[in-house]
Amino acid sequence: MKNINKVEIIELPKFLDDRGNLSFMESDNQIPFCIKRAYWIYDVPGGEIRGSHAFKKSKEFIIALSGSFDVVLNDGNKETRFNLNRSYFGLYVPNMLWRRLENFSTNSLALIVSNISYNKHDYITDFNDFKILKDEIKK
Ligand code: TYD
Repeated sequence: MKNINKVEIIELPKFLDDRGNLSFMESDNQIPFCIKRAYWIYDVPGGEIRGSHAFKKSKEFIIALSGSFDVVLNDGNKETRFNLNRSYFGLYVPNMLWRRLENFSTNSLALIVSNISYNKHDYITDFNDFKILKDEIKK
């Protein structure tokens, strides 16, 4: 299956409670990989874009814990936009997809979990290199 077809919005469990609601996620359960790392993006000035790269191995699960933003995915041919705006919905993004995060609302908070530790060599930062690598994988 093509990686773009594995992209999925996953609804997380939620326990609605008068004291405040609770959601959770577990490795290899709601999240289709084992979580090795978490990072978050916050205090994004209006109009800024984060990301704009692909990962060779890193698979990610992205949640708008607060506010909203768009995740734009490109498989080398086609671009698809996902708006995240609830803390109990996340987007599963497999490796080898070009991705950027944009349209951050005021005070938005993006939580991202990955299957691998941070490794700058896992990044593909040039879109043409990404397309070449994609084509090589197809061969
Ligand atoms: P980067 O992934 O390049 O952010 P963006 O793609 O949104 O521009 O990360 C920005 C900086 O943070 C970069 O210098 C590396 C560092 N960083 C870590 O040290 N660990 C991490 O897990 C991440 C995601 C980034």
